[in-house]
Amino acid sequence: MNLCVSTQTKKYNITIERGILSKISDLINLKRKCLIVTDDNIPTSYIDTIKNQCDNPYVYVIKHGENSKNIKYFEKILKYLVENNFTRTDCVIALGGGVVGDLAGFVAASYMRGIEFYNIPTTLLAMVDSSIGGKTAIDFNGIKNIVGAFYQPSAVIIDPNTLNSLKKRQIHAGLVEAIKMALCFDKDLFYTIYESKDLNKDLDEIIYRSLLIKRSVVEADEKENNLRKSLNFGHTIGHVIEAKYAPKYLHGEAVAMGMLYFSSKEIKDKILYLIKKYHLPSPVDLKYDDAIELLKHDKKASNDSISIIYVNEVGKYEMRKEKIEDLVKYF
Ligand SMILES: NC(=O)c1ccc[n+]([C@@H]2O[C@H](COP(=O)([O-])OP(=O)(O)OC[C@H]3O[C@@H](n4cnc5c(N)ncnc54)[C@H](O)[C@@H]3O)[C@@H](O)[C@H]2O)c1
Repeated sequence: MNLCVSTQTKKYNITIERGILSKISDLINLKRKCLIVTDDNIPTSYIDTIKNQCDNPYVYVIKHGENSKNIKYFEKILKYLVENNFTRTDCVIALGGGVVGDLAGFVAASYMRGIEFYNIPTTLLAMVDSSIGGKTAIDFNGIKNIVGAFYQPSAVIIDPNTLNSLKKRQIHAGLVEAIKMALCFDKDLFYTIYESKDLNKDLDEIIYRSLLIKRSVVEADEKENNLRKSLNFGHTIGHVIEAKYAPKYLHGEAVAMGMLYFSSKEIKDKILYLIKKYHLPSPVDLKYDDAIELLKHDKKASNDSISIIYVNEVGKYEMRKEKIEDLVKYF
């Protein structure tokens, strides 16, 4: 399956195909220096499959986890590029989840004011969400994604077979981002996930349909002025839960709980059903008073108000501007 993304700054293809990892030379010019950025959980066989197709491969392995999305690794990888005389015509390939993609993308955006960047996501979250849209970033001074750039990849290559080595917990957490998009935009996708009897079999379609949504949002609002905020459904309270209980819940697990707050009764029941079906953690009992301070620091909050996404029926959302003190009614 192929998709073309057309933003104001770049047009690029997304390819979704099982086994495509061994054929990426059909899609990327590998007859130059290629830096593969990956992490220490990614099976060596995936790295070798790519390396073996490159004329002049370089590999930089970071330690897995959010803590690696930092300025130290950003600097170390830039140094590695300089020391190995990478030029503007060489390229960076991210092979990993959202952490590797965000970090490697920001390196590519910065080195010589931008060298070609390819994203090969290996988590479900990265496949359906973070690999497209061009948001690249590192965490800095204790704040997530505070330093970064909008920098579109030159291509995104998705091999769903790479999910075979990913822990089920990570797959289910990534699935939440697809559920989020389906609840806001796509009834059919929602029921594919809701009624799925074999998730692995349905994954290709789930990835494709989620990317159709993400593409339409990103094409209409590349720099998150308005429409792209719809992708924040579940994230306002999700971020609070993620931070308050860190490191207990994965991002997607917290977002699943966060969606419960800004949903009608019908939607809430459906989310609770999915939480059980996909073995997501039981929702925490978060009180408004425990959330308020963190809500005030939400990046979507300004002048004591915050934009929230509310879902009343499957496939439709509303954007509401609320005073932070009025959020109490959702708890
Ligand atoms: N740029 C964007 O638009 C955007 C959107 C959403 C999230 N994000 C970012 O994405 C990050 C989270 O991404 P994530 O959930 O992919 O986390 P991650 O990159 O930390 O990957 C999760 C875990 O899975 C391991 N892993 C990855 N692929 C594997 C595979 N195929 N087999 C075995 N293990 C594998 C990783 O080593 C890691 O331990 C956050 O930093 C978040 O800010 C960015």
